[in-house]
Amino acid sequence: MAVRLSDPWLEELRMRSSLEEIVSEYVPLKQKGRRYWGCCPFHNEKTPSFSVDTEAQLFYCFGCHKGGTVIQFVMDIEHMPFMEAVEFLAERAHMEMPKDSGARNSALRAEERERLYEANRFAARYFHRLLWQEEGADALKYFYGRGLNDSDIRRFGLGASPKDWTGLTNALKAEGYTEGDITRIDLAVAREGRVSDRFHDRAMFPIIDAKGHVLGFGARTMGGGEPKYLNTADTPVFNKRHNLYGLNWAKAERAIGHLVLVEGYMDTLSLRKAGVQGVVATLGTALTPEQARLMRRFTGEVWISYDGDPPGQKAALRALSILDEADIATKVIDYPKGMDPDDFIRANGRAGFDALPKYPGTDYRLLRAKDGLDLDTQAGMTAYATAACDILRGVRSPIELENYLRRLVNETGYDKDVLMRQINAGALQPARNAQPRRIAPQKQVEPVSANESALLTMLSLGRIPATLLAEDDFTEGDAREWARALIDGESPARLLEGIGDEGRRARAMQALNYEPIPEDREGALHMAEDCIAALRHERMEARARQIESEIARAEGAEKRELYAQLEQIYQAMDA
Ligand code: CTP
Ligand code: MN
Repeated sequence: MAVRLSDPWLEELRMRSSLEEIVSEYVPLKQKGRRYWGCCPFHNEKTPSFSVDTEAQLFYCFGCHKGGTVIQFVMDIEHMPFMEAVEFLAERAHMEMPKDSGARNSALRAEERERLYEANRFAARYFHRLLWQEEGADALKYFYGRGLNDSDIRRFGLGASPKDWTGLTNALKAEGYTEGDITRIDLAVAREGRVSDRFHDRAMFPIIDAKGHVLGFGARTMGGGEPKYLNTADTPVFNKRHNLYGLNWAKAERAIGHLVLVEGYMDTLSLRKAGVQGVVATLGTALTPEQARLMRRFTGEVWISYDGDPPGQKAALRALSILDEADIATKVIDYPKGMDPDDFIRANGRAGFDALPKYPGTDYRLLRAKDGLDLDTQAGMTAYATAACDILRGVRSPIELENYLRRLVNETGYDKDVLMRQINAGALQPARNAQPRRIAPQKQVEPVSANESALLTMLSLGRIPATLLAEDDFTEGDAREWARALIDGESPARLLEGIGDEGRRARAMQALNYEPIPEDREGALHMAEDCIAALRHERMEARARQIESEIARAEGAEKRELYAQLEQIYQAMDA
């Protein structure tokens, strides 16, 4: 369980993290008196209204009114939750995270991690040097054959692993690393009591994170050996599901406003060589939610750029869902059949890439829904229309939905009402893993929130014990009142009878009829816990908004005190 970070510790972290220094990594700043000024990174502007008050160590934008401490700045600009922002700053400030802070990396002490990164960096340099020697001649030729020149090879830090089985291990030992260190980061493996290099006679791609740490390697055979790519296994400093290839370069290219997501090392390098910016790759697995969140820190939009074959198209659809979940806007680049980004850009150049269609996520799903269907037959058209309605059910914006519906009417010949009914009909069937949906009440009443309504319904059905809940778990006035009555043992019927006003009774009816409720007690308990947690989170968020508005009016010490309160709330929300 996470322990709260102490106030003095946080105070020291804020003190040791120079706000103007950190901000100026993202925004050019000019000093005028005790304030530094620059263009706000949080909204679009041409004349600077974003300021850093060096004395108070607070930032504030006079345009969009964002402001706060250095921790807040990192949370906002990196899209990090509180704890990650604190870790981010602690690492920069060379402060150790307090024990039991629940920090992601606390299993490994900072200096230990640093040492392992150094060993990886040494290995990267070793592989790179080898490339220019006799032993690396094959790898060098291999990279040339893939269209890279010496300057590309240097820029991407590529390398060759030795043809013997102990070259790197011996070199690392001579640097003072133990066999334990070397095997821990998967640069060597112990077999039958003998330790030998993990990578042998392969073309090497170092994987470097946004902070410049060498995390591990991708290693390609130069002949037909198997496997084609060998990657560093998960180690204390590398997790292939949490990192991306190419972020070290893409990080500096935020200005383009999107990232381009590819599947392979060579796809990344070929696009980059052709001048395409913001390219990153997954590391041999399908895109994970963690990787999506990582990208969210750098951009609000991702262009999925996967192979133009059926597996690539399937993977693109899966990636779309994961990016949707992470609240990232998406486009999908559709490559010609059988081409990957590397093949394509080498054949068609940058201009060809720029000319490729980039489909918004929904358009791409609709396009794929036609695959394998013969739209000239009634059966094919029916199947397409049905699949399209399933897709359009996920479109949130009414205007967008209207646009798609018009198109679908044109394409399929079905009436708009029919399509709309098909969309709504599907909505009532609970989809697997889908958020529970509510059946809309007949009367126009301002509904009680979904979380409160779910809890009240389960309580009234006896699906969860009253002892699980307290009035204070509810936020809104009516919900609190009805919860108290039900917790006190009043029957739902009596409760409803006691409400004289028709509108309010309709509201109570709606609140007590949440759908769907899990049939079993265990499922209900789970759902109740989720609802309680979500409500608690919302209340803290509301409290945070309130403090923010107080901050807008406060000055000096009071302002700083309010910011500290705000950060405590963030911390509690994170826990
Ligand atoms: N990959 C892997 N292990 C394999 C094959 C692939 O980890 N055995 C990962 C690598 O990260 C690789 C990516 O999947 O870059 C894409 O692989 P693939 O589509 O098979 O090949 P290409 O990218 O076309 O590789 P290349 O161009 O080098 O032939
Ligand atoms: Mn390829």
